[in-house]
Amino acid sequence: ASEPPTVFHWIPFFGSAASYGNDPLNFFFECQKKYGDVFTFILLGRRVTVALGPKGNNFILGGKSTVFNAEDAYTHLTTPIFGKDVVYDVPNEVFMEQKKFVKVGLSTDNLRAYAGMIEEEIEEFVRHDQNFKVYQANDINEWGTFDVVKVMQEITILTASRTLQGKEVRDALNKSFAELYNDLDNGFTPLNFMFPNLPLPSYRRRDKAHLKMSEFYVNIIKKRRAGHQDHEHDMIAALMQQKYRNGRLLNDKEIAHIMIALLMAGQHTGSATGSWALLHIAANPSVSEALYKEQVEHFVGPDGKMRPVTFEELRGLPLLDSVIRETLRMHPPIHSIMRYVRDDVPVPATLSAPSKDGIYIVPKGNYVLASPAISQADPTVWKNAETWDPYRWNDTQGVAAQAFAMYADENGEKIDYGFGAVSKGTDSPYQPFGAGKHRCIGEQFAYLQLGTLIATVIRMMEIRIDKVPEHNYHTMITMPKTPRTISYRRRNF
Ligand code: HEM
Repeated sequence: ASEPPTVFHWIPFFGSAASYGNDPLNFFFECQKKYGDVFTFILLGRRVTVALGPKGNNFILGGKSTVFNAEDAYTHLTTPIFGKDVVYDVPNEVFMEQKKFVKVGLSTDNLRAYAGMIEEEIEEFVRHDQNFKVYQANDINEWGTFDVVKVMQEITILTASRTLQGKEVRDALNKSFAELYNDLDNGFTPLNFMFPNLPLPSYRRRDKAHLKMSEFYVNIIKKRRAGHQDHEHDMIAALMQQKYRNGRLLNDKEIAHIMIALLMAGQHTGSATGSWALLHIAANPSVSEALYKEQVEHFVGPDGKMRPVTFEELRGLPLLDSVIRETLRMHPPIHSIMRYVRDDVPVPATLSAPSKDGIYIVPKGNYVLASPAISQADPTVWKNAETWDPYRWNDTQGVAAQAFAMYADENGEKIDYGFGAVSKGTDSPYQPFGAGKHRCIGEQFAYLQLGTLIATVIRMMEIRIDKVPEHNYHTMITMPKTPRTISYRRRNF
């Protein structure tokens, strides 16, 4: 057996770092044309084997953690930020227990309690933050502008802290917390992924910020343990009650570090998706008006007033749901999902083979990389793949609906087209939340946060932009390039 083809490159150690770093999707599409769905490229000395398409997704995301290992691929990036004894700093079995603990905090009961809080935060923000001066001037004919990414970053942290993170974090946001968060966040870059430890100020600030942040959460937990405060709906409260299989409760540091991990997991993914969604809505006035109509039809009561959103009702809005789903198809925040190869692994002949009878082997010591972003943009799978068209999801016979149906639930069952349905099918072309063992558990929370965001913004204002910006791939999470300025005008809300 031989190895998959290696992508041609001029400079030995550097390899394809520039092409991959500048535009990974274009790089993968080009390689796919030359080498097929499975190939290896050199990334600053690492050998990275990419497997594309639904079968490639299945090969990597459906693989065993003993051969395709996540902690070996990510720990050097994440442990300095999250801290010890959680996520990728512990063996996979332990992290899987921790994921179950987090799921308790993300129960439907909690999500129900969050809907109103999220709406309130966003309304408050638009009514008082300096980014929305024209709105506050109360003139419904004047247009103003806002930088969508800046606004979304603030809204995402405000809403996540008010709900999951809890009262103490929300209260600290205006103070030291924001700065600490920024220093930590500056440790979450492609540079940190490539070089875990450089003698740079940003690395030192990251390490300092981690210590302070960890202490901040530990203090909250200690105070809660000492008092009898009522925090029934937040994540800290849920985690304080969880026990490992051996009967041990989580200790303060473990809870603190899980909280940091959750903060980081939801922040960029949420703010990027919210930004892309608002950009597309702003560029498509007809969708924007249809969304507003959907709000009016569902939420205006007999008194003519718009009611607050609820978790249940949001789930029943087909256009809102399709807008989020379509945004995540074209702009999945995570373009590369990586694993470290712990043992030689044969590539199934149905996925890629050197000749009719042969098979390829991915050797131990390589990395493997899945990119659902590619199958989500594949023109052989999706009609008009490059067009943002939320209505493609309404055609229940269409390819989009079929792809979503393959996005099976936890028991491998096909799911209904429900709002933010939890699922982990590994062979679907549609996987913005990943698949398999490491699949996202924040999907329902993200749908609630994004659905409430869009509903609230659409109720409060009209938004416009001439053109949706291109992707910027120089950040860990795929963001829109500047300028990303949206024009808005107040509605009579
Ligand atoms: C895992 C995407 C929001 C927590 C993942 C993965 C993806 C993803 C692609 C798989 C990573 C891998 O296999 O290596 C997203 C997107 C989001 C989002 C697109 C929003 C639009 C959230 C939120 C939370 C969260 C809000 C927490 C409240 C997690 C956790 C994992 C995960 C705990 C598991 C990691 C693992 O098992 O290795 N997410 N995520 N995510 N996400 Fe999310």
